[in-house]
Amino acid sequence: MKNCKEFVFSEKKVTVYFDSLFFDLEKIIKKGDAVLLIDENVYSIYSTFFIGWKTIVINSGENFKQQSTIDEVISSLIKIGADKTTSLIGIGGGVVTDIVGYVGSIYMRGVNTGFVPTTLLGMVDACIGGKNGIDVGIYKNMIGTIRQPAFILYDYGFLDSLPEIEWSNGFAEIIKHACIKDQEMFQYLESLSFNYFRENKIALQALIERNVVLKSKIVQSDEFETGERKLLNFGHTIGHSIERMNEISHGHAVSIGMVCATIISEQLTGLKKTERLRLEDLLKKYSLPVCFDFDKEKIIQNINFDKKKSGDDISFVLLNKIGKGQINKIALSELTQLILQLF
Ligand SMILES: NC(=O)c1ccc[n+]([C@@H]2O[C@H](COP(=O)([O-])OP(=O)(O)OC[C@H]3O[C@@H](n4cnc5c(N)ncnc54)[C@H](O)[C@@H]3O)[C@@H](O)[C@H]2O)c1
Ligand SMILES: [Zn+2]
Repeated sequence: MKNCKEFVFSEKKVTVYFDSLFFDLEKIIKKGDAVLLIDENVYSIYSTFFIGWKTIVINSGENFKQQSTIDEVISSLIKIGADKTTSLIGIGGGVVTDIVGYVGSIYMRGVNTGFVPTTLLGMVDACIGGKNGIDVGIYKNMIGTIRQPAFILYDYGFLDSLPEIEWSNGFAEIIKHACIKDQEMFQYLESLSFNYFRENKIALQALIERNVVLKSKIVQSDEFETGERKLLNFGHTIGHSIERMNEISHGHAVSIGMVCATIISEQLTGLKKTERLRLEDLLKKYSLPVCFDFDKEKIIQNINFDKKKSGDDISFVLLNKIGKGQINKIALSELTQLILQLF
């Protein structure tokens, strides 16, 4: 296929087919050799796409990224007769690709997986890097593995039906990438707008591809998150905590989490206040929230269950300047004080 890139990871090479059509999937895998796991909303909008494929439809939403869904999917796979040679293909947003990545790594001790991301967030972030997993009650991504898919196929046409809020969720992760690694992309986003990218497909595709390459390179340098990969958690420590307590979407929670992390950076890295204000303006430009009336005590309580915590310290991502993230080990007692002083 025309625009295709390969990314080599420790145990696997991932082939990424950009600028493709869903129907190209048949060129990658035979219909009889695959089971498609599809988000229910995507299934209802694009049902004709899936004729002739074996399918399992997964309930939509974060509330279903739980063990009960894994059990249902595994029962369905057994009923269908899926075996070691079957490929599981996830078609949906980050919830579906996380579930499929996880099921794919445990079903029969591991089968091939592939992803067709259908949300902007899925395209620029969730389907890349092989992290997958499920929530346990309110605790996000507590169980999971790191295991790469065999391929990722991009059909940008899926974005035509994406609700507005899901566009802004995707932009939160794009802005995160710009903050930690790509000052030029930050300026580029500042010079354009939410509607520009929604209306200009060529620019949007290039932006998606730029983010896929950026994230893939970080993951290639540190697949199992011992250092550099932690940068991708920028905005996520406080963000996850907010997401858990309130019915607010992942990207919106991360947006608020990034603002909190830049306020903390002003104190710990000397980040200039003007840089934080630039970030707030950019987030607003892409329809993202920059503050929220949250219960700080609860945020702190939740952080005690964060995976980035080890002993009395936590790895917390700060900004040195726009385009340069840094990872600091902070004592939980110090972070508590910093959070209490926010807003
Ligand atoms: N594994 C990773 O590295 C990683 C990275 C970032 C986020 N995530 C996870 O991803 C999840 C968030 O992903 P998301 O924002 O894609 O959420 P999502 O999968 O819940 O999708 C958002 C909504 O969009 C709908 N939808 C999907 N595609 C659509 C389309 N083409 N048209 C219309 N509606 C569509 C879905 O039904 C859902 O209601 C979170 O669980 C987060 O933890 C994982
Ligand atoms: Zn995220």
